[in-house]
Amino acid sequence: MIVALNNKSNLEKEEFSSYFEELKTIETEDNLILCPTFLNIGQTSSSSIKIGSQNVSMSENGAFTGEISATQLKSYRVEYAIVGHSERREYQKETDEEINLKIKHLLKNDITPILCVGESLEERNQNQVNEVLSKELSIAIKDLTQEEKDRIIIAYEPIWSIGTGIIPTNNQIEEVFHEIKKIVPNSKILYGGSANEENIDQLKQIEIIDGYLLGGLSLKPEKLKIFLQKLH
Ligand code: PGA
Repeated sequence: MIVALNNKSNLEKEEFSSYFEELKTIETEDNLILCPTFLNIGQTSSSSIKIGSQNVSMSENGAFTGEISATQLKSYRVEYAIVGHSERREYQKETDEEINLKIKHLLKNDITPILCVGESLEERNQNQVNEVLSKELSIAIKDLTQEEKDRIIIAYEPIWSIGTGIIPTNNQIEEVFHEIKKIVPNSKILYGGSANEENIDQLKQIEIIDGYLLGGLSLKPEKLKIFLQKLH
């Protein structure tokens, strides 16, 4: 299973260093991917934990103040990058077209994109889930070769579930995963949104899930350990 940890904008320098030490003590056969802030990426030392970023520039190196490019990430042994997280779509007004550019830069640098897609509660209530996901996905993977599409990891994160403690039913998740597979049949698909050490018993019954993207739980190593133990 893939378990990606999204620290979001949390953990200062000292906090991160003890946090990372604790994470390194976790014994798991799962593929743990830690996505710290850009600054904290610089603090990670070599371990079995893979490193991801939470974003990437849509441009190459150059006059793009405040941006961090895919080649720079690669030079810090970053192997994965979250793109299109709903918080960036909402607060930074990130568009599907920009996400498509980011994915292309990442793939060119052998960094695996973790593409987040998901509907708002309003969109779900108006039966627009498939429409929303199909638009987000199809623009994000525009002009990619089949081989490139296959390398992308998709994270289905219903916006109404992120940080709320509410998770969809297993049927709802399965339905969406099947829809996603119609567009990217060979991509690994993660579930994200309030997954934790308590609801994992329910979530793990969904066979189609390839892993999880964890926000809040990523900051609690003790609970994360329980989550990982229960995963199998
Ligand atoms: P959450 O966040 O686990 O805290 O709901 C998930 C995410 O935003 O990636």
